[in-house]
Amino acid sequence: MTQRILFVCLGNICRSPAAEGVFRAQAPHHTADSAGTAGWHIGNPPYGPMQSSASARDVELGGLRARQFVAEDFDQFDLIIGMDADNIANIEALRPDGNDTPVRLLTEFAPQAGADHVPDPYYTRDFDGVLDLIEIAVAGLVDHLDGSSSTFN
Ligand code: 4NP
Repeated sequence: MTQRILFVCLGNICRSPAAEGVFRAQAPHHTADSAGTAGWHIGNPPYGPMQSSASARDVELGGLRARQFVAEDFDQFDLIIGMDADNIANIEALRPDGNDTPVRLLTEFAPQAGADHVPDPYYTRDFDGVLDLIEIAVAGLVDHLDGSSSTFN
């Protein structure tokens, strides 16, 4: 069954659009979007160096535009995935009363990578390393979604 997945980072110009693009490529049978907990880059395309590194792997991010995460997203998606603990805290701060949409870290789906968050390449400049981690974790996520029942648990 098609699942609606929202990837969330801080700026929505590096990590979450990359995760959205990789997920779209790996799992076209599901639907995906991304958002940032901050509003600094609303309307902007993904960061140029991230677009270039993704394009080298045939993941095209140029059509994406940044938006800010909003409380209504809890009702629009089946699963919300953050890149680090700050993202998770900022997402949870907007959870509506009574909503039980699962919120998870992307790295939970790549235990073999031994990472507890997706480092922010806006600061580390390691765009390829982050894409490597995202590709592994998204593959784990897709396995999880397609191997499980109709809702995420
Ligand atoms: P992202 O990276 O959260 O992976 O999109 C960032 C992009 C921009 C900024 C911070 C993080 N910024 O401070 O503008």
